[in-house]
Amino acid sequence: MSSSHPLAIHGGPKAKTTPYHRPNRYGALERKYVLEALDDRGLMMTNGGMVRRFEAAAAEAFGCRHVILTTSGTTAIQTALVALGVCEGDEVVTTAIADAGTFMSILALHAVPVFADLHPDTFGPDPDSVEQRITSKTRAIIDVHMAGIVGDMDRFPGISAQHGIPLLEDGSQCHGGKWKDRCVGTMGRAGAFSMNESKHMSTGDGGFITTDDDVVARLARLYIDKTYSRGETRRGDEVLLFAAINARPNCLTGAVALAQLERLEDNLAARDRIVRRYYAELGDLPHLRLPKILPGARCAWWPLPARYTGDHPTRDEIVAAMQAEGLEVNSALSPTPGNLHQSVIRDRRFFADRDAVPHFLRDVQYDEWSCPKADEIARQVVRLPVDFRFTDADVDETIAGVKKVWMHYLGK
Ligand SMILES: Cc1ncc(COP(=O)(O)O)c(C=O)c1O
Repeated sequence: MSSSHPLAIHGGPKAKTTPYHRPNRYGALERKYVLEALDDRGLMMTNGGMVRRFEAAAAEAFGCRHVILTTSGTTAIQTALVALGVCEGDEVVTTAIADAGTFMSILALHAVPVFADLHPDTFGPDPDSVEQRITSKTRAIIDVHMAGIVGDMDRFPGISAQHGIPLLEDGSQCHGGKWKDRCVGTMGRAGAFSMNESKHMSTGDGGFITTDDDVVARLARLYIDKTYSRGETRRGDEVLLFAAINARPNCLTGAVALAQLERLEDNLAARDRIVRRYYAELGDLPHLRLPKILPGARCAWWPLPARYTGDHPTRDEIVAAMQAEGLEVNSALSPTPGNLHQSVIRDRRFFADRDAVPHFLRDVQYDEWSCPKADEIARQVVRLPVDFRFTDADVDETIAGVKKVWMHYLGK
């Protein structure tokens, strides 16, 4: 096992010699809309027009009746669950590995997250496992479109319809993804998206809900605004309808969101060009499995999760070698290796400053090892970098670096 070029981890020259190209992602368009927002009647969403402008443009772009901007992906999911009727003690089936926001939003409602195992091709929840987790207490299903990969979206709406349980699509990592020409976020009763800075569209922090359902939209708007009716009732006569929060975005967020929406198609095309090259030039490497793309899916690529299925070297050794080459490769699908392994779930550690298990979790038991495919995937993931700002040289060097490491260890 040798190569004409020694690995950087053994003291050889790095494959990636320059930093990845990441100029400021905000520019003239964001500035234009932000200035318009500042010159408008106010920055609060109830005064200025920029939040509503984004919502109207996004509803048009996503092909749904309503878009509701919020302060984060987590508040978008929490709000959507409330609007779908999730109450204390209800079960919500979701995925074993995703950003913590997906299940923290369930816990915030004193509802019970139930974790489905992962599908090895999509890295999202396996529809078969989701079905197995459904009980008489299940009140919602959250499908998470991980890493921009769009799986079989005939399955999830089918399960939802068959069991009469609303489907919420978490499209945070899949802005603009499609299944047979329908946008992610419009195939369930509602969709929820994050716009934090790692996302295709970013407002620094932010999120939004998509829905065709007028009742869901109305409840969501009430929930993010303490149930105020805003103009429909005289001041002093307000009637508060139910317990709610403040997750109102302001018009600066709306302005940046509008600009980012206008950039989305170019952004997706740039990501697609990079990922096509990875498939064409790395798709045959031994023990490297790239996600299977179904006909009918338009993926909205994020960093590309592949699976390394070899034993020698280990996944961690091969990732360390690629990192030493200067590649932005890592071994994590999400910030944690799995929700079930976190104390907040495993030990039902709910409160910040005391050990007591809250009432709604008293009868719930979590088996840390109940999602074996998720654990296997967590051991195998190798994430390749994808960013709409990368130059051809960034992609050339990344591919060359991966090939160099593979040639050294695996002879191809
Ligand atoms: C799939 C998924 N869901 C939810 C969230 C939570 O979003 P936020 O950080 O905006 O609250 C994220 C953020 O990374 C995510 O990737």
